[in-house]
Amino acid sequence: MNNMKIAVIGAGLMGHGIAQVFALAGHAVTITDAHAATLDTAKARISANLRDLGEDESAAENVRVSADLAEAVREADYIVEAVLEDLALKQKLFAEIERHVRPNSILASNTSVIPVTAIMQGLTRRERALGTHWWNPPFLVPLVEVIETQWTSVEAVAWTMKLHEAAGKTPAHVKKDVPGFIGNRLQHALWREAISLVEHGICDAQTVDAVVKASFGRRLPVLGPLENADLVGTDLTLAIHQTVLPAIDSRPGPSPHLQKLVADNKLGFKSGEGFRTWSADEQAALRAKLTRHLKAIRDT
Ligand SMILES: NC(=O)c1ccc[n+]([C@@H]2O[C@H](COP(=O)([O-])OP(=O)(O)OC[C@H]3O[C@@H](n4cnc5c(N)ncnc54)[C@H](O)[C@@H]3O)[C@@H](O)[C@H]2O)c1
Repeated sequence: MNNMKIAVIGAGLMGHGIAQVFALAGHAVTITDAHAATLDTAKARISANLRDLGEDESAAENVRVSADLAEAVREADYIVEAVLEDLALKQKLFAEIERHVRPNSILASNTSVIPVTAIMQGLTRRERALGTHWWNPPFLVPLVEVIETQWTSVEAVAWTMKLHEAAGKTPAHVKKDVPGFIGNRLQHALWREAISLVEHGICDAQTVDAVVKASFGRRLPVLGPLENADLVGTDLTLAIHQTVLPAIDSRPGPSPHLQKLVADNKLGFKSGEGFRTWSADEQAALRAKLTRHLKAIRDT
């Protein structure tokens, strides 16, 4: 699948990275943003990323910027929205997009947590609308969850899966539009228990992170949880669950410990303290370490 015309709405953190992936895959990408200064720097940011990653910098030439939404989407085969996480804004934007696009183009939202159903419900042709949930940074984390709503056609899902696979991504079909899709449900089930362990004095935050990184975190890139369950045996998994699940945190809402941190303005990196304290140097070092790691494993 190549030479598609792709429109990316929103040139922020996610939008410019998504545009970069499609441009590198050889598609003709038009990117637009309501904020002129953000749009003006989009191509330079894409070029800088490509240079930093050792990729073909000329791919940035496949990206065109346009300040005019109608013009940006008119000829597109595929439109992906990555504007702010605001339901009313996204609904308004898709209503506007639908007035200008071709009848058979596919419409996607990169929402993190807003139900795709809520975003797309007002559209006239809901069968060509779906969610595509990328992970940050879009050009280093392979997963794109492709979320089907009750209206999405089989063809739209299949086409979108193929588009992302051909661009080097790892698409995952989410068959029901549930909060958190797949990745964030799994991730936040882990975070809930991690917070609970600290809240109940079983260990401190540093120890939680050390345990994850030194144990099953080592295996996760090659051994998913259900592969692991099969590897040890479903009978052993059942026995473990009979003992452990009743003890694991299953509260339906956010932890009181987390709520207190937020109330006390302990917001993590942005205030210098969250579960742990973070100097500016420590923050920069962790961010750099993460980027180095993602680059090192991107081709594995
Ligand atoms: N940041 C992440 O890690 C991440 C991961 C997955 C999904 N998402 C989702 O992706 C979307 C974008 O997130 P982000 O982190 O790139 O945000 P961002 O703030 O970096 O970028 C959003 C961009 O949208 C633009 N914008 C706002 N209104 C617009 C409009 N009407 N028309 C065109 N452009 C408009 C803004 O000017 C801004 O440049 C959100 O829905 C977010 O939840 C974010």
